[in-house]
Amino acid sequence: MRKLTNVDYDQNLAIVGVVPGPEGEEEIVAIAQYFLDPKTMVAEVAFIVQDEWQDKGMGSLLLDYLTKVAKERGVKSFYATVLPINKAMLSIFYNSGYKINTEFDGDSYSITYELTR
Ligand SMILES: CC(C)(COP(=O)(O)OP(=O)(O)OC[C@H]1O[C@@H](n2cnc3c(N)ncnc32)[C@H](O)[C@@H]1OP(=O)(O)O)[C@@H](O)C(=O)NCCC(=O)NCCS
Repeated sequence: MRKLTNVDYDQNLAIVGVVPGPEGEEEIVAIAQYFLDPKTMVAEVAFIVQDEWQDKGMGSLLLDYLTKVAKERGVKSFYATVLPINKAMLSIFYNSGYKINTEFDGDSYSITYELTR
């Protein structure tokens, strides 16, 4: 919880996806976040898109933007743990245009890739 609520824009950076709400206000429907290990400059990434906004490209858009910001801040690699059932998350990583390294431990996939390539 502390990690999620203390966004310091340095080690912990979050971006949100917004859509127009019923009153014209901005409604947050998605969050993408990274948690950086400053010693290795490897960042763990996590995403959540509200159910009714899933499969409309928002996750992919947020990953693109998070990648851009991360590269500007010197992040070397992204890391994520993804369950095999989560085909959407796996698709997003595989469609990112980067060379994805995948390891399976019997329960989940460890996804890593270098942002510099
Ligand atoms: C995973 C998640 C972030 C994806 O966000 P999204 O906005 O739905 O993703 P997008 O619409 O950008 O892309 C989804 C991709 O997955 C594919 N996909 C979706 N469901 C799929 C399925 N069951 N099988 C295969 N592919 C699937 C889509 O076809 C699309 O690929 P495409 O761009 O090649 O067409 C979202 O589903 C989510 O919040 N899930 C719950 C939380 C979660 O699992 N977070 C990940 C932990 S790191």
